[in-house]
Amino acid sequence: MEEERLVNSQKENEEERIINLSLRPRTIDEFIGQPNTVSALKIAVEAAGKRDEPLEHILLSGPPGLGKTSLAYCIAKEMKTKLTATSGPAIERAGDLVGILTNLEKGDVLFIDEIHRLSRVVEEFLYPAMENFQIDFIIDKGPYAKSVKFNLKPFTLIGATTRKGSLSAPLRGRFGLFFDFDFYTPQDLTMIVGRSAALLDTKINEESAFEIAKRSRGSARLCNRILKRVRDYAQVKGDGTIGIEITKTALDTILVDDKGLDGMDRKYLLSIIKMHNGGPVGIEAIAASLGEDRGTLEDVVEPYLLSKGFINRSPRGRIATETAFSHLNIPFTKDPQEKLF
Ligand SMILES: Nc1ncnc2c1ncn2[C@@H]1O[C@H](COP(=O)(O)OP(=O)(O)OP(=O)(O)O)[C@@H](O)[C@H]1O
Ligand SMILES: [Mg+2]
Repeated sequence: MEEERLVNSQKENEEERIINLSLRPRTIDEFIGQPNTVSALKIAVEAAGKRDEPLEHILLSGPPGLGKTSLAYCIAKEMKTKLTATSGPAIERAGDLVGILTNLEKGDVLFIDEIHRLSRVVEEFLYPAMENFQIDFIIDKGPYAKSVKFNLKPFTLIGATTRKGSLSAPLRGRFGLFFDFDFYTPQDLTMIVGRSAALLDTKINEESAFEIAKRSRGSARLCNRILKRVRDYAQVKGDGTIGIEITKTALDTILVDDKGLDGMDRKYLLSIIKMHNGGPVGIEAIAASLGEDRGTLEDVVEPYLLSKGFINRSPRGRIATETAFSHLNIPFTKDPQEKLF
């Protein structure tokens, strides 16, 4: 079971978190890949610097593990400011934000992870803070209650989300810069593996780094995670150096196939193909047949399968494509009539 979770587990455990902190790129120049985002951001940072103004509010969106949090820290570093981090679910009441906001200095970055999970009330409290750097809060209760305005120092809000579509229009409208993260190319991931291996003091050749990259389904977090598994294997079975034979054997034991699909992806596709005739089938039905949470399927499993053409989404549900059938060695038997829908 643990193998299957290697790809799909969204969150990192404590040990991983600490190692990952050291693997995170620290500056925008160290940030590998996402070329469109990086070049647009460099211009925005430079322009804001020249005007001696804080950056506009930034929304970073994309599937988990592609570097949204890392980039937020890089931006703060580039702007030579402090970053205060919190997350949507951590802010229960608007009051939780008062202390955070009033403590921000001019140009500081407030990073809100999973910003799509802010409650309505908290969201509304944020609007004037984002727009005019002002907050209104109520002091006292009952007949003595009064609203007090408080001026904040100009700051930059960086929001990160795996679900841009779930953000309300008014919140989305208050951001000035939007960056969508793409899955990394195997070439970028090869560079990330090389960089991480050097930081972990592990020798690896280009061929092995590329092999790990190919199996990392476009995710920086996953390529680091796989690298660490392969490194363990090389240390136990060899002299610690990562060569291609060790890499392939290690990768086979963690059940990530040559298209980067793991056990969970295969179960997901098999559920559409075998239990639901190839689709279309609603996400709730797939989640029920797999005993999985719908959100995990939508946020973690589906984006990669969609990007690689293993599934399509239609108004009537998910459909397994011919690519999925052939990858799983199942003859493509869909009735052409049915495919029209
Ligand atoms: N461009 C990059 N270059 C090198 N390593 C990277 C890069 N982007 C991300 N990483 C690595 O991938 C890991 C995951 O990145 P990060 O936590 O920033 O992703 P995320 O998009 O915030 O994910 P989530 O949505 O799950 O919060 C980091 O610990 C870092 O080691
Ligand atoms: Mg993150």
